[in-house]
Amino acid sequence: MKTLLVGYRASDLFEKGRHGKKKPSALLEGDVTCHTLDIYERHAIEKVHHAKTICSPHLPEGDWDKIYFKTGPKRMSAELSLDLLQEISLRLGGELKPPRFMLEFDGKERDKNDLIDKILCDPKRVRNFTAKWTASVPGAKPIELESAPGCFCHRRADEGGLALAETISRELQEARTQETLRLLDMGCGCGLVGLLVATAVKNIDLVMVDSHSRAVEEANKNASQLGINAEVILADSGTPKRMDETFDFFAGNPPYYSEYRIAEVFYETALRALKKGGVCYMVCKNALGLEPVARKYFDNIEIIHRRAYAILKSKK
Ligand SMILES: C[S@@+](CC[C@H](N)C(=O)[O-])C[C@H]1O[C@@H](n2cnc3c(N)ncnc32)[C@H](O)[C@@H]1O
Repeated sequence: MKTLLVGYRASDLFEKGRHGKKKPSALLEGDVTCHTLDIYERHAIEKVHHAKTICSPHLPEGDWDKIYFKTGPKRMSAELSLDLLQEISLRLGGELKPPRFMLEFDGKERDKNDLIDKILCDPKRVRNFTAKWTASVPGAKPIELESAPGCFCHRRADEGGLALAETISRELQEARTQETLRLLDMGCGCGLVGLLVATAVKNIDLVMVDSHSRAVEEANKNASQLGINAEVILADSGTPKRMDETFDFFAGNPPYYSEYRIAEVFYETALRALKKGGVCYMVCKNALGLEPVARKYFDNIEIIHRRAYAILKSKK
């Protein structure tokens, strides 16, 4: 019996066994695999549940006997739920009912039924949930980017990311240096910041990192579509050691939902990855909140205001 768990915190289906050790609940028979979109979640599941886990932008192929899907409006966007449900339906040959399919929906019954009906009303239709949109910085041509549900930002450019890309591009354009500059875009999403800077300033050697597998997939696609040679890495703890002290610039637009814990991972990486004299740019809404965090890593901080955001600039 091969069972796949899908969705945000689907691993909650594991329950506490004896001695506090987690084990698959009675529901989960045989060979159980968890799927995650984010490598951070994969590491957390492996640590807590010691479960077989796959982190990938799409559900793994395979003869799944059962698929459990955990979702709801508080857990993920409606579009990502629909996208994953479509993939589940393809893996199960359209059999979206027990015993092969179980849906745990954290939300209203009506929304749950709507979600399943959207797939079952036209089971042969395979929808494409990716979107294409444009973004630009002053002094450079607009670029077209593709995004997918789950990847940040989907269907539009993030204002904070734009403020960051505009600031770095302007400073590098003004510097007019001919030498190749190495830029690390951490938490790259679909590649907005790194790809805008690499288009505006031609001599950029670009590395992009994100913990989300769909972000990495989209950033890779966008870089090759734009003819930009970039290395894109799936990681939740920064760049590999071999890249320490090799970058001239660091760009970060981290999520701020975890009491600056993720911003700290970004700063730790910036400090490790930058050469002496290298410059770190971190964008945020609330400079007063981020500044004490930045001071743990850099002793010099300049605040640049752009759009409704602040960019904290520090030199190593
Ligand atoms: C606010 S989004 C910014 C995306 C993009 N740079 C932009 O400006 O549109 C933050 C990104 O950081 C990624 N992220 C979160 N934690 C991370 C970590 N520990 N390591 C790398 N990326 C991370 C998220 O997956 C997300 O893509």
